[in-house]
This record gives sequence, structure tokens and C-alpha cells, in this order.
Amino acid sequence: MTPAAPHIPDTAPFSTEQRAWLNGMLAGLFSSQSADGTTAASPAETTAITILFGSQSGNCETLAKKFGKLAATQGFGPAVTDLGDYPPENIKGESRVLIVTSTYGDGEPPDNAKAFHDFLLAEDAPRLEGLTFAVLGLGDSSYPDFNECAKRIDSRLETLGAARAHESLLCDVEFEDPAEAWVPGALKALQGKSVESSEVGGQKTEISHQPSAISHQPSAISHRSAASPSAAAPTS
Ligand SMILES: Cc1cc2nc3c(=O)[nH]c(=O)nc-3n(C[C@H](O)[C@H](O)[C@H](O)COP(=O)(O)O)c2cc1C
Repeated sequence: MTPAAPHIPDTAPFSTEQRAWLNGMLAGLFSSQSADGTTAASPAETTAITILFGSQSGNCETLAKKFGKLAATQGFGPAVTDLGDYPPENIKGESRVLIVTSTYGDGEPPDNAKAFHDFLLAEDAPRLEGLTFAVLGLGDSSYPDFNECAKRIDSRLETLGAARAHESLLCDVEFEDPAEAWVPGALKALQGKSVESSEVGGQKTEISHQPSAISHQPSAISHRSAASPSAAAPTS
């Protein structure tokens, strides 16, 4: 049986609008049905996951929000968060993160991810042994520093002791299909379930198997997907 959603009492110190908003939020949280009719886990049963997005023109934001909705149907209690609103030091307290970021400028992080990127890359960045992560990058292979921000973050998290749950995916301009093919496997892996290699289609899409090589040998960065050759085929 579905438990009744908690209700903010009329005597609570909120305005009518605030009370209505809070009651709506609680009802949504406690609803057992998601919009697509699948049954979402109740909050007590969910696995916490933070989905962080770095996005300049909205692509990663859109994907992160979609991923949040999908995660909510798969036993997660997702918190989808703009990296610009995320205090970078909070990463120390996370258990599970899915990071979706683009690259801008000449291999730079998008504006909203700069503080987070710089915090992680700093010499005094904290150890992150308690963290499990997966990274999805969006980029454009016409730029020399293809997906540099995602590569750096992925590599740095591993260097700081975090556990990569799932190999990163570095997407080119046609990112929707590869990204949506990748995320179910990433979520399963973040939940601690075993996964098979993602089948991804499309154009230049790199799956990184040896991120430790990434930051030092940009030209040798990712293995163009021995696991999934069709995904690795560059467009030309
Ligand atoms: C001015 C500009 C600079 C960019 N620089 C890079 C780059 O250095 N490397 C890369 O892989 N992609 C680069 N891109 C491509 C974006 O990362 C790509 O369009 C991505 O989908 C944007 O996602 P977002 O809307 O979430 O920021 C650049 C795009 C623009 C418009």
C-alpha cells in the first residue's frame, strides 16, 4: 500500500503559497507512480545519487535532467544539480555521482563548472576514496581539445582515489543516441550491478578505458572503443 504523503500543518510558520508549494513537493516525492507509469521506489528504498551538470548552452543540463528522471525509476533518489550551484567541497561527502559536462573555449570547462573543475584539479584537492563515479562528456571533434573537460574530471577523480563505476563516454555533436544508450549501464554500475558494454551508435564517440593516460597523452586519450567499434568510427 502506498503511504500517504506527509502534510504541512496549517499552523506551521509558512505563507499559504509556501505551504502549497511544500505540500505539492511532498506529494510528488511520495507519489509511487512516475509520469511514464513506471513505479518509482519509495524514498526509504532509494539509493542516493547526485547528477552534476556542467553546461554552457543547455545540452548537458537537458541530458542530466532526463537522466535524473530515468534514475528515479530505477531505484535511485537523484539530486540533479547545476555545478554552478554546487559547493565543490561537497564532493567529499558524496557516495555516488554521475557527471555530465561539456567543454568550451579551447578545452575549458563551461562557466558553471569552472569552480568545480579548478577545485578538483588543485594540488590540495581532497582524497575521494568514498566516491563512485561515472562521467559523460559532450564535445565537438572539430575542436582540437575534444571533450577535454570531461576527460580531465574523469581522470582526476580516479587519481584522487574515487572508483570509476563505468567507463566514460565522450560524445560528439550527435550526442543524444549515444548518451541515452550509455546511461542505463552507467546507472546499473553506479548501483553496484554488473553491466555489459554499452552499445552506442553514431559518430565519433570515445569510450575511455585508461583515464590515467588521458591527461598526459591527449592524442592517445581514449581507446576508440575496441569494445564497440561502431561507436568509435569517426565521421568524415
Ligand atoms: C565557443 C565554443 C567552444 C567550444 N569548445 C569546445 C572544445 O574545446 N572542445 C570540445 O570538445 N567541444 C567544444 N565545444 C562544443 C560543445 O562542448 C558542445 O556543443 C556541447 O554539446 C555543448 O554542451 P552544453 O550545451 O551542455 O554546454 C565548443 C562549442 C562552442 C560553441
